[in-house]
Amino acid sequence: MGAMESPAGQAEFLKTLEEKSSGGKLRGDYSRADAQYVVKQQWDGYTDAQHELWRRLYERQARLLPGLACEVFIDSLKKMDASRGIPDLEKISAQLVQATGWTLVAVPGLVPDLTFFEHLANCRFPVTVWLREPEEFDYIVEPDIFHDFFGHVPLLFNPIFANHMQEYGKGGLKAMTLDGLTELGRLYWYTVEFGLMHTPQGLRAYGAGILSSGGEIVHCLTSPEPHRLPFNVERVMRTRYKIDSYQETYFVIDSFEQLFTDTAPDFTPIYARLHSVDALPANALLAGETDLPL
Ligand code: PHE
Ligand code: FE
Repeated sequence: MGAMESPAGQAEFLKTLEEKSSGGKLRGDYSRADAQYVVKQQWDGYTDAQHELWRRLYERQARLLPGLACEVFIDSLKKMDASRGIPDLEKISAQLVQATGWTLVAVPGLVPDLTFFEHLANCRFPVTVWLREPEEFDYIVEPDIFHDFFGHVPLLFNPIFANHMQEYGKGGLKAMTLDGLTELGRLYWYTVEFGLMHTPQGLRAYGAGILSSGGEIVHCLTSPEPHRLPFNVERVMRTRYKIDSYQETYFVIDSFEQLFTDTAPDFTPIYARLHSVDALPANALLAGETDLPL
C-alpha cells in the first residue's frame, strides 16, 4: 500500500516499526539534523541510478492518475514538473511559497510529533531526503521522498488544503495537551493519507498514501471490498486503521472546504467523548451506515 506512516501518532507507528524491523532503527541519517530535524537535501549527492528510479516511479504513478486522482492534484503535479528526476526541494519550495506561502524543509525521515506539528503550524512541510531502493518499488515501510513529495506536495499548492494543513498542525499541538494524538492521528490517516472525494466526475482520491501507491490507487476506487463512507469527524477519529494492508474503509469528503469547515470546531469535547468509548475496528459498519456507490 505504499508508504506507511502515522505522523500524528508516531509513537504508535514507531512501535510497530520496531516490531517489524530487526534493529528497530529509523533508516535516515539523523546525525546532521538541527533542532527542528531539518537537514540539507544535498541534491548533488543523488546518483544517476536514483534519478532513474525516481523517473520510473513517477511515470508509473503519473500514468495511473487520470480518472483516479482529483483534478487539483493532477494540475498541481504538472505545474511542478518533477518528472525528470528527484526534485531539488529548494526550487519547488520557491514555487510553492508564491502560491500558498508554504515552504518545504528537508528531513532525514520521520520526525517527532511535536516537531511535525510545529512545522505544519508554521506552513513548512517536511520532506524525507532519501529514496527507496529498486526492490522497494511497490512497497515501502517508512515514507521516502517519493511518497512525501509526489503524494503530499501537489495539494499544498491548493490554498484551502494548505490552510487545513496549517490548522492541523496547530490542532496537533493542542491535542498533545488533551491526550488526543491517537484520535487526531486517525483523522490524518483517513484524510491526508487515505482520503477520497466526491467530484462531478465521480469518486476520486486525494490522500497521499493512495496517490503514491501503485496498488492502492486502483484498489480504493475499484475494489468492492472496502467500505466507503461519508466523512464524519467523530466517526473517523474513532476508527482504527491498517498500516500493513490496503485500507478496509475509506471516508469520502465533498470538498476541501468541507474538510476545513468540519475540522474547525473545538475538538476538546470530542476527545473527551472518545476516551469513554471503545475504538471501532478498521472494517466496522455501524447500524444505519451504508456504503457509498462507486
Ligand atoms: N479544531 C481542532 C481542535 O480544536 C484543530 C484541528 C483543525 C484539527 C484542523 C485538525 C484539523 O482541536
Ligand atoms: Fe504521508
